[in-house]
Formats: sequence, C-alpha cells, structure tokens
Amino acid sequence: MRRLYLDNAATTFPKPEPVYAAVDNYQRQSGGAVGRGSTARALAASRVVERARASLARLLGQVPSERFVFGYSGTDLLNQALQGLPLQSGDRVVYTALEHNSVLRPLHQLRVERGIELIEVPATPQGTVTVDAFRAALAGGPRLAVFSHASNVSGALLPVHDLTELCRQAGAWTLLDACQSAGQVPCSLRDCPVDLWVASGHKHLLGPLGTGVLYLREGMEAILRPLRLGGTGSHSESEQQPETLPHKYEAGNLNAPGLHGLAAALDWIGEQSVEQLWRHDQERTAQLLNGLEGIPQLVLHGPPAGPDRLGVISLSFPGLDPQEMATILDQSFGIETRAGLHCSPRAHQALGTLSAGGTVRLSLSPFTTADDITHVLASLQEFATGMASL
Ligand SMILES: Cc1ncc(COP(=O)(O)O)c(C=O)c1O
Repeated sequence: MRRLYLDNAATTFPKPEPVYAAVDNYQRQSGGAVGRGSTARALAASRVVERARASLARLLGQVPSERFVFGYSGTDLLNQALQGLPLQSGDRVVYTALEHNSVLRPLHQLRVERGIELIEVPATPQGTVTVDAFRAALAGGPRLAVFSHASNVSGALLPVHDLTELCRQAGAWTLLDACQSAGQVPCSLRDCPVDLWVASGHKHLLGPLGTGVLYLREGMEAILRPLRLGGTGSHSESEQQPETLPHKYEAGNLNAPGLHGLAAALDWIGEQSVEQLWRHDQERTAQLLNGLEGIPQLVLHGPPAGPDRLGVISLSFPGLDPQEMATILDQSFGIETRAGLHCSPRAHQALGTLSAGGTVRLSLSPFTTADDITHVLASLQEFATGMASL
C-alpha cells in the first residue's frame, strides 16, 4: 500500500536529502564538539553551527546572527523565554486561545508560582484571532504578549505585524511562537520587530528532531535570565555565566549532529527560497481544500484557502471519533494523519471540537505533491462513502 505521511505539523518527514548526508558525515567523519577546543575537528563543527546561525539571520531579514540561540526544541526555548523573563506577581500576560501547551503550561505554572495574571484573547470559530480582540485584551497594560504566527490546529496565520505594533504601543514585551511558520512563511524580524521569537528546528526549518532556536531582539539579553547554566567553552575562568551572545543561553554541549542537519536544511531552504516554498504550500493547500469541499460528509475547520492560512487542515466526520477516523485512514488507506487536540485544547474550544475529542489534522510539507493530494482526496471520498453506507 502507498503510504503518505501528513503529520508535518508535528515534525516534517522526509527531510531534504542533504540533511541526512550532513548528519551522517558529521557522525562518521567529523564528530567534534561545538565551541570546545581549537583542533581542526572542533573548529569545523563550530563553523557549521555558525553557518546555520548566519542562514537564519538571512532568512529572517538580515538580523545579527549571534542573536539566534540554539536549543533542543520549540518547547525548550519557549520555556526559556517565558520562565526567563522577570515576570512578577500581578504582572499581566496576554496570550491567545490558539497557543500550544508549550506556551499554556509554562504560563499556568507562572500563575501558580509567581502570581502573574493571565488574559486570554479569544479565537473565532474559524480558529483565528482578530486585531480588535487582541487590542481589547491589551487594555489592562500587560507586561508581555505571547502569540503564534500560525495555529497548529486551524492553520490560520495571525496578523502578526499588526499585533506586534499594538504591543509596542502598549509597552508590552512580545514573544512570537513561530514553530509552525518558520521556514515556510516569509517573515522579516526587521519588519515585525518582536522581542523574542521561537521556532522548532525540526518542523518547516526541515532539520532533525532535537533542534530549536530562540531569537532575542537587541537589549533582551539584559532582561532574559538564562535557565541553563554551565560550560560554554568560553570565559571558563569565571564563575558567572558569560553575558555574551549566544553563549549566555547555550550552556552545555550543543546537539552537534542535529545542528549539522539543520545547517544543511537551511542551505536547502535558501536554494529553494522561502517565497517559493510558501507558494508551493499555498497551491497544495488550495488544491486540498477545494477538493475537500466536494466531500459533503466531511466538516472542514479553519479559514478558507488563501494568504491567511497554511497547510495545516483540521477536519471532522460527524459522529465518528477522530482517533478512529485516523486509524482507518492509516490502516486502510496508508494516510498518516494526527487525531486529537494537538496539544492546543483552547483552539478546539474555539472551533467547537473539544467535546468531540478534537479533529483529524492533515499537514503538508514541501515534499507533498499534487499527485499526493489527488490520492488523499480519492481516499477521503472512498472513506466518506464507505462510512455513509454503514
Ligand atoms: C504552535 C506550536 N508551538 C510550539 C510547539 C512545540 O514545538 P516542539 O515540538 O519543537 O517542542 C509546537 C509543536 O507542535 C507547535 O505547533
């Protein structure tokens, strides 16, 4: 049976071919620890990691490369951002109902431990957030606002430029969760000057699992406390964590194999261009959504095809548990989707899918072809016809 992986919102698969080669070559031939020592081996490993940083700086609008800090996942660095800010009792934090548990749970913990006050921006039934609702939530003068660039449930792209400007006017720090958008939606951190920006290295940045990245706008390093302290391979005589970037937030050996893969992935993205990858995603998403509209038994969630959404598509078959639907798609049609709440329970509340146990999510990648979409549509049509005849 033909198998098709459509859970790219969790982690992309496959990766570009040079990613596998880079990890394999590092593991077999190179093997040096990044920033440790001055042997040719160690220096070669460091150069590759600096190349990855420089590629990120180019991808995100020519910002200084040392402001990108590597970690182990989006979750790792969202925790660094949220727990590292000097939030105190009574400080207000605005977040949207679309946020992932990697934001919601640290915020909940900060409410319990530090007494911060949380203000949720409601999402619409289409699974997006309006500028007006966001503006209203800022009225109380928050210290911080956290928002996703793209929802991992509805696929909605938020108007992040407008939201960032509103936060600037309100005097709030901004943390942008770009885990779903980085690498596929063009974005410049010059035009959208958030204070903190976090992405997974293993989603649309196309690197291996075990990689993530945090960007700090100029000056934020004086505010953000590092959560992990230890060896950096620099300033070793000092008892204090170095204040220099990126070392301040990169204690301990980096995931060198993962970052070699990420460096190769970023080269590949640079060759394709993020604009081209974005066009590809929009075309495949439109093809899928248009076809799904022709299968009346299925309920589609999220915005229509267009510039306000990406290729993360949630759907339901009324009366059928999403887990069961995903199992049938996997076992009978070879289509690997993801069922449930996708770690974003508040988003499902907005869509009205919480009590049904969530949705079945199909998420695309640069390697999803027009023929793959045709195959998915034929399979879903057969599935829906079969279910209706039971
Ligand atoms: C919007 C969003 N934020 C954060 C995360 C967490 O990223 P990671 O899997 O790299 O920890 C995810 C993962 O699915 C996500 O979709």
